[in-house]
Amino acid sequence: MTPLPRHLLPDTAEVASDGRLSVGGCDVLALADELGTPLFVYDEEHLRARCREAVAAFGGGVAYASKAFLCRAMARLVHEEGMHLDVSTAGELHLALAAGVPGERLVMHGNNKSTAELRRAIDAGVGRIVVDSFDEIDRLEAIDPPTPIPVLLRITPGVEAHTHEYVMTGQEDSKFGFGLGSGLAAQAVDRARRSKALDLVGIHAHIGSQIFLLHSFTKAVELLADFVNPLDLAELSLGGGLGVPYVEGEEAPTITQWARKLKDDCSAAGIRAQVTAEPGRAIVATAGLTLYRVGTIKELPGIRTYISVDGGMSDNPRPVLYGSGYEAFLPRATGAERPATATIVGKHCESGDVLVRDARLPDDVVVDDILCTPVTGAYGHSMASNYNKVPRPAVVFVRAGAARVVVRRETLDDLLRLDVE
Ligand code: LLP
Repeated sequence: MTPLPRHLLPDTAEVASDGRLSVGGCDVLALADELGTPLFVYDEEHLRARCREAVAAFGGGVAYASKAFLCRAMARLVHEEGMHLDVSTAGELHLALAAGVPGERLVMHGNNKSTAELRRAIDAGVGRIVVDSFDEIDRLEAIDPPTPIPVLLRITPGVEAHTHEYVMTGQEDSKFGFGLGSGLAAQAVDRARRSKALDLVGIHAHIGSQIFLLHSFTKAVELLADFVNPLDLAELSLGGGLGVPYVEGEEAPTITQWARKLKDDCSAAGIRAQVTAEPGRAIVATAGLTLYRVGTIKELPGIRTYISVDGGMSDNPRPVLYGSGYEAFLPRATGAERPATATIVGKHCESGDVLVRDARLPDDVVVDDILCTPVTGAYGHSMASNYNKVPRPAVVFVRAGAARVVVRRETLDDLLRLDVE
């Protein structure tokens, strides 16, 4: 029955006396009318506040994991607020550079960086390359850079974080990094130290994503300490992974609490290296929400009600990929009780195209209503596709009563732009 919990909305969300939602001083129903749907709306103040919080909590060098959501405006915002950017492909690197982020503020990731990607990163003067394999060391040596490249080595400490299997990365059986238990991590340090191409400045570990329980990080730090301490390196990056609440009843630590715990754990384990991190989701998830328009309402007596909206798995594949849960509400009646149950589906040609299974909703939803799923700021737009040739939605940043489209909606002609015949 309960109304949407307030903490699932962006920081500047306000509900007018008639129930209408505004974010960043902009009425979201007016945004949907003006800019069309589906629409990603981001609260710019919220984004900036989370970046500032990360910088205050970790200090300089903390990086935003751009895979969570990236466009030029986002890269600029992150840079203005003092964060570095983690980029994990030539594509993310290209966007960050196109936004004017200086190379030295970038951390280059990836478990299979090509020689071309490595060259591009080196030419751009990236601040750090996080080395993931012996083949990558071979490639860096073959490139033979004029001065040694500052690198971190990615280590898998052997931790099974409490999260979905697809986003668990700290366990020994992983495509990422060098395993601690197998001895590969020690061999990698040895090679990096002997290499003229590399300047080993630190160790990196990323145990997974959407983690609520901080003891998974404590475990990783404990396992890393004996390895890291004798190396006496300047930096230890503990990756990203801080979870966010998506649905009622979920709670997560703040960035500040997470940083404090990581730092306390590191001091308790005698780690003297500067501790840093690269949050993605915790910066952007709750800042963003998606607006859809209801197209059909199908009541199947004794079975369920299906509400179809004008987007779906192409703008949010997370429910299909990970079984992720979301809430839904009507921004025309934001605080309304939600006594009805319906399954919100997209417009794609498969039954798996579900956005919210058994969503709680007000009982007066009608065709043409604007429906909102909150907490869609991370890994939504960044994982969007053109499945069924559905154009990708626009992205709008709202702040102090002004809305600016930072990524325009794809047109039908955009769908033809790569066809050569
Ligand atoms: N650093 C590294 C090396 C990573 O691989 C990731 C995420 C992060 C940082 C940022 O993690 P975050 O703070 O966002 O948890 N598509 C999935 C999430 C995949 C995460 C991949 N790596 C999802 O939608 O849940």
